[in-house]
Amino acid sequence: MFTQANETKLDELITHYPVKRSAVLPALYIAQEEHGYVTDDDVKYIAQRLDMRVNEVEEVVTFYTMYSRKPVGQYKLQVCRTLSCALLGAEKIAEHIEHKLDIGIGETTKDGKFTLMEVECLGYCDLAPCLQVNFDYHEKVTTEDVDGLIEGLK
Ligand code: FES
Repeated sequence: MFTQANETKLDELITHYPVKRSAVLPALYIAQEEHGYVTDDDVKYIAQRLDMRVNEVEEVVTFYTMYSRKPVGQYKLQVCRTLSCALLGAEKIAEHIEHKLDIGIGETTKDGKFTLMEVECLGYCDLAPCLQVNFDYHEKVTTEDVDGLIEGLK
């Protein structure tokens, strides 16, 4: 199901936990890293490998916004929409990105480069508004910051 390197990584990962199912979050990361998103086959395979039911794995994937169940862009622009960020302009940031990239929330640019998402609290409430780009965090983001960031990623 995975590349041999990722199969080895998953085998090793499972040994870190007292029960296999505890490895579900990092196992899903492996799947997402390999395929760009978590496919239906990934969900079934991980369920089988971790002695879980398919719907249990599906529940985990759909609960956390860091997992994607459909193809996404090379860069996921994740705008925090929770209270502190909302009060300090997150909506304006999201709208700016929508207009700049001509996509809506949950959509990907035609070139496959960017996907815009709204997410819940990123844990940097005192530095709102926050934007996460893949695994990088950007705090106190302005529309000018967004412009520079996107241009730098093109
Ligand atoms: S509310 Fe946005 S980081 Fe917490």
